Amino acid sequence: MISIALDGPAGAGKSTIAKEAARRLSILHVDTGALYRAVGLFALRRGADPADPSQVLPLLPEIQVSLEFSPEGQRIFLNGEDVSQAIREPRASMAASAVSAMPEVRAFLLDLQRDLARRHSVIMDGRDIGTVVLPDADIKIFLTAAPEARAMRRYKELVQKGHQVDFDSVLRDVKERDYNDSHREAAPLRQAEDAWLCDTTHLDLAASIDAIVNYIKGRTSL
Ligand code: DC
Repeated sequence: MISIALDGPAGAGKSTIAKEAARRLSILHVDTGALYRAVGLFALRRGADPADPSQVLPLLPEIQVSLEFSPEGQRIFLNGEDVSQAIREPRASMAASAVSAMPEVRAFLLDLQRDLARRHSVIMDGRDIGTVVLPDADIKIFLTAAPEARAMRRYKELVQKGHQVDFDSVLRDVKERDYNDSHREAAPLRQAEDAWLCDTTHLDLAASIDAIVNYIKGRTSL
């Protein structure tokens, strides 16, 4: 099994790039952000404050998340319901960022992630894959881009999906999530020492995918 850890801040294009790279390399793409989003969504639906551990942690025993993979990509199920669309709403993004700061939530999702990498060759994207989840990954990549570039990409993606958003609030969200993700105590977002830094501020999607696929092909048997 070959595992590739792909970490970086929100909106760096991790999921899109990882999905296409996985297709070209014939391995699984695991989007770990979806797991935190599912927990955040569950908290919201229960009327809990996603930032308050005393409201979120008692809910964990009621949560079952599972992933399914097909050529179209990953689908996520929350207690049997397909929530692959619902977790993409901006309120689910903020809730995910809040619950992901809780060590108990991270521990709750750890085995599921490690187990997938044990059973399959994967490119796993997230924030702490190279540092915590798969510290022995064969390849580690830290993907980043300037906040404005990342906010513009996310804005276009949301508009395309029919969400009503304005650019300034998307940029504010990106910066707020960057701050939360890199300043939390539990598994903060940071580049692993042995990760390759790939900055896509001035690369379009096709060029970013090529760079990453070439990097992986040059260093593995894939
Ligand atoms: O990648 P994303 O935007 O779907 O991630 C949603 C949130 O989950 C984000 O605020 C950071 C958090 N996250 C995390 O803490 N660790 C991961 N491995 C993946 C995501």
